[in-house]
Amino acid sequence: MLIREGQVAVITGGASGIGYGLAEALAARGIRLVISDIREDGLIAAAAALRGAEVTAVVADVSDEASVRALAERTMAAYGRVDLVCNNAGVVCPAAPLWDQDARTWQRMIGVKILGVVHGVKAFAPLLIEQGSGHFLNTASSGGLAPLPGRTPYTGTMHAVVGLTETLDLELKQVAPTLGATVLCPGLVDTPLGQNSAALGAIELPAGAGATPSMRSQAGAHGGILSPREVAESALTAIEAGRVHVAPGAGVATRARARVDTLLADITVA
Ligand SMILES: NC(=O)c1ccc[n+]([C@@H]2O[C@H](COP(=O)([O-])OP(=O)(O)OC[C@H]3O[C@@H](n4cnc5c(N)ncnc54)[C@H](O)[C@@H]3O)[C@@H](O)[C@H]2O)c1
Repeated sequence: MLIREGQVAVITGGASGIGYGLAEALAARGIRLVISDIREDGLIAAAAALRGAEVTAVVADVSDEASVRALAERTMAAYGRVDLVCNNAGVVCPAAPLWDQDARTWQRMIGVKILGVVHGVKAFAPLLIEQGSGHFLNTASSGGLAPLPGRTPYTGTMHAVVGLTETLDLELKQVAPTLGATVLCPGLVDTPLGQNSAALGAIELPAGAGATPSMRSQAGAHGGILSPREVAESALTAIEAGRVHVAPGAGVATRARARVDTLLADITVA
């Protein structure tokens, strides 16, 4: 999909980090925005910071289907159309091996990361289909392309977002070639994901900590930390190029290739 002035984009988790980076990048292209987040204070601050852009701010919880449906209704009431839906909201989970991850963590991650995306697609796909054009950008993670020990609720749900986006793109293309979906799988990004996840009760953060420890160690092993704006620009480039995957970050492609090579080697053994 070509991104052109006057189009409308919706961004969940738009108050912070990658979502806010997407808002900045889209505003710079003259896109009208609906930014949405569960944290009202962050949302108000983000909308104020996007001075000069046409912005509607809507508080919504992506894990709640009715809340996301209301977001779609507010979008249509504000602009009468929607071209790009960024299902981006997310939290991180505590670090522990799978057998020590508790059921509430799994429920939260499934609710926010998997059902959050599902609710976004269910609420907005009929609108895009009726319009005859439009695109979904679903944020997963490099942890959705390769194993990330210590965060199975995170990696498991991110792998799900990769898989469902690949399938969603095919389903949309069966309806019309002007519809599609892209999954965003960045490496480490300089965002307050840890702090926001702690504020939302998803993790406990040691005093003074920034990004979560596993993300820092990931960066240490694989190179630099991206800015949210860099990630956003990569995502928009991929959408315009019609790509289904975009994975900015040093080492991400190498880790994904290692996983695919291992998978193919394993399944081709007689
Ligand atoms: N920061 C990284 O290194 C990194 C790397 C790869 C993928 N990601 C993914 O990118 C996405 C965005 O994360 P970020 O790093 O920008 O963090 P962030 O905390 O800056 O932004 C996430 C936003 O989502 C919002 N949110 C959380 N739960 C919500 C809910 N139920 N409903 C609506 N909004 C909700 C938060 O309030 C926050 O504003 C997440 O899905 C994250 O897993 C992050």
